[in-house]
Formats: sequence, C-alpha cells, structure tokens
Amino acid sequence: MQTTERQNTHEAELDARNENILIYVDGALLPRQEAKVSVYDSGFLLGDGVWEGLRLRAGKWVFLSDHLDRLFEAALAIDLKIGMDRTQIFEALEKTRDANGMMDNVHARLMVTRGRKIRPFQHPRLSREGPTIVIIMEHSRLEASAKNRGVRLATVPQVRGLPMSQDPKLNSHSKLNCVLAAIQAEKVGADEALMLDPLGFVNTTNSCNLFIVRKAEVWTSTGDYCMPGITRRKVIELCRANGIPMFEKNFSLVETYSAEEIFLTGTFGGQTPVSEVDGRGVGNGALPGPLTSHIQSLYQALIHRDTA
Ligand SMILES: Cc1ncc(COP(=O)(O)O)c(C=O)c1O
Repeated sequence: MQTTERQNTHEAELDARNENILIYVDGALLPRQEAKVSVYDSGFLLGDGVWEGLRLRAGKWVFLSDHLDRLFEAALAIDLKIGMDRTQIFEALEKTRDANGMMDNVHARLMVTRGRKIRPFQHPRLSREGPTIVIIMEHSRLEASAKNRGVRLATVPQVRGLPMSQDPKLNSHSKLNCVLAAIQAEKVGADEALMLDPLGFVNTTNSCNLFIVRKAEVWTSTGDYCMPGITRRKVIELCRANGIPMFEKNFSLVETYSAEEIFLTGTFGGQTPVSEVDGRGVGNGALPGPLTSHIQSLYQALIHRDTA
C-alpha cells in the first residue's frame, strides 16, 4: 500500500475562525483557550461519558431528533443523568450557535460525562458534581477535493466487540478500541481501519459505517456490532424508498475485495468513497462509483428537506 497523501473521513478545511470560537462548558460560553474541564472529570479520568456529532445546515441541526434519541438512549444505558431534557439540550446548542454567529458548514461535538469525582478512582458514585456538558462547535467545511479522493482501508486485528463487553453500539467517550484500530491502519499506510466482527464478517471502520455495492445491490452489516449510525440508517431508508436493492447481512472480505463500489457513512462526510482495501483497488477505480454518487445526491436532497 502506498503511503502518499493522507486522506481520512474527517478532512475539514482549516479555518482560522476556529481559533476564536466560544465553547459551551456547563452553561458558560468560554473562549477556546479558556474552555477547560477538571482533571477529576470522569470523562478525562475514565472515558466515562457519551457524545454526539452533529452538523448544521442553513441554521438548522440536521436530523436533530435522531441525535437526541441516540444521546438519551446511550445516557440511559450507562445510567448517566444528563440533568437536561431534549428542549434544554437544543437550547444549549442554539445558545452556542448564536454566540458564534454560525449558520452553515458547522460541526458540533456535544459531550456529556458523569462529572467531577471527589477522588481519581473508577467507581461512578465518586462523581459528585455534574454531569459535565461541553459543546465544541467549529466551522467545518468538507474539503471538496478530498470528499471523492477515496479512502484507503486496511483490515486490522481489533474487532468490534460483543455487546456484553463494551457494547460497540454506545457512542462512549472511551474509543480506545477504535483509536488502536486507527493506529494499526496508519502503521500500514492506510487512512482508516476496516474492522471485522467477532465471527470475521466485515463490520465497520474505526469511525464510520461501511457499505459495499455488488451487482447493483447495496450491502451493509447486520448492524449487530456497529455504531447505529444515523447516516447509515438514512442510507438504508433512502435505498429502500428509491428502489435500490439494499441488504443488511453478513459478508466477508472475499465479497468486499470484489465489490464494485465501497463507501463509508458518517455525519461529517455523508458518503465517502473507498478507493482501496488491503492493497486491492475497488472496482474500476471511478470515485465516486455511480451508485455511490446517486446515493450522495439522494442524501443531500434529504438533508435539504430535513432542514428546510
Ligand atoms: C464507530 C463509528 N461508526 C459510525 C459512526 C457514524 O455515525 P453517524 O452516521 O451517526 O455520524 C460513528 C460516529 O460517531 C462512529 O464513531
């Protein structure tokens, strides 16, 4: 695999305005350099928290209700009391947006941790103040040239775990498994890690969901071991609503290597084409492939309807 120019699914244009953004920390809006959390924070100490990545279009939060559903479900699952309802979370997002005068091409990372501990140990009952709620909102325009340059994947030894260990469906602060996968991929010159499930079926990447196209059919994993990506769900629904054969099923590397098209999905990049898997070029090299391009258009139209 060649190690030429690096490409990943979260390639945003550098924007000098991000040096001067205001960050929401527990209700206060603080300049970037002053926005800090305690070293006793359970998020810092243990990765004990949940988060959402959202995008803003035309002053509206894309698929907001889906993001709030996932946030509150995850918080319930880890027994974390957010202390705010959906309306209050929306108001916090809007307060941050207003303070930064943002309308378009914006990415927000909304994080909730169990809060400050009285001692630097693991037990959740040691978190006595909190939760800690932080919103980092940045100007984030997807690099037009990068979007369809194609991501190179390498299969890594780190697998998506079983739900009875750290359930891979949780968007937890702790992402060490995914971080290790990303490191492993980088070591062999790839941009993103392709992760298998415990049985060896192709599942997802370290930060995105994965789809393959074979003979005009679109396949993605059963969903058992991956993040329940909102973009993933929208792509599945769009395919079904537009007569594109779509299957959530087990498939292996054999079928992946011979796919005509492969693309990744995530809030940040929408649908990002894959150019290479384990050193094998994808399809005839067209980026994006025709079905990927069609799905990209359907998805953009859906975002416009959602934020109209
Ligand atoms: C491991 C993983 N897969 C997929 C996704 C994409 O999810 P979404 O489409 O909701 O952004 C994310 C985003 O956080 C992720 O961390």
